[in-house]
Order: sequence, then C-alpha cells, then structure tokens
Amino acid sequence: MPISPKILFPSETREFSLYTKRGSHYRLYCYKDDPFTREHKELLLERGIARVYVRAPSRDWFKQYAQTHLGSVLQDHTIPLEERSRAFYDTSLSVVRQTFNQKLPQGLDPAVLQKIERMVKEALSFLSREETLRSLGALMSHDYDTYCHSVNVFILSASILQTFKRFNEDDLVQVGIGAILHDIGKTELPSEIINKPGKLTPEEYRLVREHPRVGQRLCAGAPLHQQSHDVILYHHEKLDGSGYPIGAHGHHIPQCVRVVTIVDIYDALTSKRPYAPPLAPFDALQLMRREFDGKIDPVYYERFVRLLSLTL
Ligand SMILES: [Fe+2]
Repeated sequence: MPISPKILFPSETREFSLYTKRGSHYRLYCYKDDPFTREHKELLLERGIARVYVRAPSRDWFKQYAQTHLGSVLQDHTIPLEERSRAFYDTSLSVVRQTFNQKLPQGLDPAVLQKIERMVKEALSFLSREETLRSLGALMSHDYDTYCHSVNVFILSASILQTFKRFNEDDLVQVGIGAILHDIGKTELPSEIINKPGKLTPEEYRLVREHPRVGQRLCAGAPLHQQSHDVILYHHEKLDGSGYPIGAHGHHIPQCVRVVTIVDIYDALTSKRPYAPPLAPFDALQLMRREFDGKIDPVYYERFVRLLSLTL
C-alpha cells in the first residue's frame, strides 16, 4: 500500500518495512527493525518521492501505527493539509472497519470504544476549520458503504455542532462517538437487504427499521455516554413522529441527534445507493427542504446549508 513519507515520524519504532518503487519494481528502503531517521525522510522528500510502500502482510501494522500517530499528524502544520486530511480519512475508516467487523453478537468491545473515543477527540479541532472540510470534501467517498457513511456522518455532524456555542467539548465527543456508531445495528442485517436494488418486502422493511434498536443492544455492554446511545437509537426519528423505531415526537428527540439525522439523510441522498443514483449536493438539499419540512429541525438544516456553501 502506498503512503506519504510526510506522515512518518523519524526515530519511531515500526513493525513494517518501507519500500520505494521504480517502474514496477519495489526496493527495500528501510527495514522494519532499522530506525527511520530524519535523514531518511529528508532524502525522500528531496528526491521528490511522494510515496513509499508497505507490503500487504504488514498493512495492519501500518494501520495501527497510523492510529497511534493520528493526533500528531493532524496537529503538524508542516504536513500539507491534503496529506493530513488523507491520513485522517483513511485512519478513521480503518477504525470504523475494525469496529464493525468485530464479532458483534458479543457486543462492542470497550477497548475498541476507547480507540474510537481517542480518534474523535483528536479529530475535533482539525474538523473545526473550514479549509479542512473543503479538503475532506474532495476525499469523502460517496459509495454506498456503511464504513464511509459512518465517517462522513461524523465529519459533517462534528462540523455543524462546533458552530453552536450550546454544545461543549464533552457533547462533541459523545455525539461524535454516536455518529461513528449510529448504524452499527446494520451489521446484523443480511447483505441482501442492504444491497437490494428493488423495493423491500414488508418483512425486510421491518428488519431495517429495527437497526437503531439492534445498535443500542450491541452497545449495551460498553461504557457509552447517554448522548451516544441517543444518537444510535433516535437517528431515524422525525419531529412530526413519522420516524422509527419509536415514533418519537419533537422535544423527545435530543437536540444533538437532530444534527446527525440531517447529515445522515444528506449523505445517503448524495451517495450511490443500490436503488437510486447519487444526487448532487444542491439537489439533495432542495429535496430535503421540500420533503422533510416539519420532520427535520430547520435551525440545524439552515446551518448545514450555510456550512456546505462555504466548503463545497
Ligand atoms: Fe441508520
């Protein structure tokens, strides 16, 4: 797998060797047990080598390294924003994949939850800047994929929430964790339902409508804050009571969840779904204004439109 030398830290120990590539040949550049020095890094950058490579069997070691160093990468302004955004998007995807691919019938592992919490905390100040959103916008995948969808919903929810003074740092962290985990209940749905191109049968639809409750059950054994649970359980509820799984009305739906609901709908509409092509951002926002009137919170919707207009 290709990686930027800019996100490697000199003198850190690594469990993976680094290779350079000439034509179709890979050449060992730095063996895993040898220190990767400042000189190694400078030489690569001087030669204009934008990518070094990690062999496929060591991929998980690199992902672990990237998770450990994410905070340092995001704060290091000598690394171009585009590289930091790429590191953030890839690393958060690998954390989500790891979470959703656990043996989930046993529930969410508290050690994995800690990883998510750390990633969310490290990402918040990075996500508070408009130029970050602009740069991430170019990277955000619009394939219909629960992993990408979870990361996209986290990025956009955190960005909106940070524009309101009423949400403090702890709210942002807890809602961020909830946003990452909001569709965890879908891991128990058969892939034939998730990827079905046609109309769902009533029984399939009933199962889909249960995924927030299933998600809550999967997370019941992990020390999750109430706000994170609320995001998982209420993210498909609508202000007029037409949502699911409870059919909760207005003030029963927590404020922070309303933000996640808006972003969730937007990301689904702008993604390639099995049953519909993606909508352009403007068309998705128009559709939401038209068809979700009275169902989603207009204050957060307007703030979201403004945020997108600054960053798209
Ligand atoms: Fe969902």
